[in-house]
Amino acid sequence: MNKAISGFSKLPKEEKIQWIANQYFSKPLEALALLKNYWNTDEKIQKLHDEFIENTITNFYIPLGVAPNFLINGKFSTIPMAIEESSVVAAAAKAANFWSTRGGFKATVINTEKIGQVHFLYKGDASKLNAFFSQIKSQLYDETASITTNMQKRGGGILDIILNDKTHLMPNYFQLHATFETKDSMGANFINSCLEQFAKTLKEEACHYNLFNEDEKDIEVVMSILSNYVPNCIVRAEVSCPLSDLQEKQIPNPEEFAQKFIQAVQIAEIEPYRAVTHNKGIMNGVDAVVLATGNDFRAVEAGIHAYASRNGQYSSLSHAKIEDGIFSFWLEIPLALGTVGGLTSLHPLVKLSLEMLENPSAKELMQFVAVAGLAQNFAALRSLTTTGIQEGHMKMHLNNIINQFEATDVERMAIQKHFKKNTISHSAVENYIISLRE
Ligand code: MEV
Repeated sequence: MNKAISGFSKLPKEEKIQWIANQYFSKPLEALALLKNYWNTDEKIQKLHDEFIENTITNFYIPLGVAPNFLINGKFSTIPMAIEESSVVAAAAKAANFWSTRGGFKATVINTEKIGQVHFLYKGDASKLNAFFSQIKSQLYDETASITTNMQKRGGGILDIILNDKTHLMPNYFQLHATFETKDSMGANFINSCLEQFAKTLKEEACHYNLFNEDEKDIEVVMSILSNYVPNCIVRAEVSCPLSDLQEKQIPNPEEFAQKFIQAVQIAEIEPYRAVTHNKGIMNGVDAVVLATGNDFRAVEAGIHAYASRNGQYSSLSHAKIEDGIFSFWLEIPLALGTVGGLTSLHPLVKLSLEMLENPSAKELMQFVAVAGLAQNFAALRSLTTTGIQEGHMKMHLNNIINQFEATDVERMAIQKHFKKNTISHSAVENYIISLRE
């Protein structure tokens, strides 16, 4: 059967799902019912979601959880997290509780510079291009005035534009490298609009520049686009306490715990295979808050992993030490986030998440996100270096299996008691439930 179709995007939603159901499903009616089951009963909300992207057929749910008791810079917050992976929210909440009685998290925004580039080809004398750039630089600012006026009123705008010679990497390749301050917006639209105007000015002015020959006048713009690598848009999150304060029921020997914890961090600093998983744990916290607050987690992921490789080898984003009897654990990550624009005023649950965070500025949101990443990393390393990660996971797994078999409350208690002492596996639980039911 031919499963191609032309004009699909123009079909009404009902016809789209009809076509999908008939083409791809052995039980089309069931597929249709499932798709519709996930439509929102409130037509206004559904329309909103339909219009976020193209060819929407239904909604794909991800749970929104919360981790309360985060003491950050002396103030308690509850952090919203959108994530499908079990244990992540529980781990964040546990780390938040732990640090809330040990001085809490400190978070600091170090800088907030965003970046965009116009990539172009220029066939000629580089010194002439430099002179030309110096001459048109103020014009690059002037001709973006209509785009930058509002941003300037909010204290942002273009910070600088420089010309980079990249001909050692590719023949004739140069770039305008611009830096921006975009305040509470992530700034993608603002930056891209400025860049496209720079490209226009660059090309037009080159045509009229007397010192250029015909080849030099013919600047070829390849593309104008922001960079998701923002190594000067950094937030730091940290926790620290006297070694002895680490003690609690599950940490009977704080010194031994701290030493092993630091070794685990060092392994991630020197060993890329471990660093990737270590940082993945950090991203469990980072992405969940980024997603809940309507930000672009792909941009954040790409930028953070590039940052983790900035010294030529992929390495840990977090670090730990003991100095003068004080245990410290911290991370620094690049984060380009917005709390205005984009989804932030459109998606009802994004609005709710931002309100839960008391409508933060972009800088405050950077702090929440970094803290969630550090908390997650602390929780993971704590389990890994003590009980191992499976203990917690298997408890969750057991719960999922119990639910799958629709166990009664009495059965549930018996199963949980039995598997405190016995190894959990799907078949072991299944056999035990069967034996109970016999
Ligand atoms: C699982 O989602 C994340 C961990 O693998 C992170 C880590 O190993 O540090 C537990």
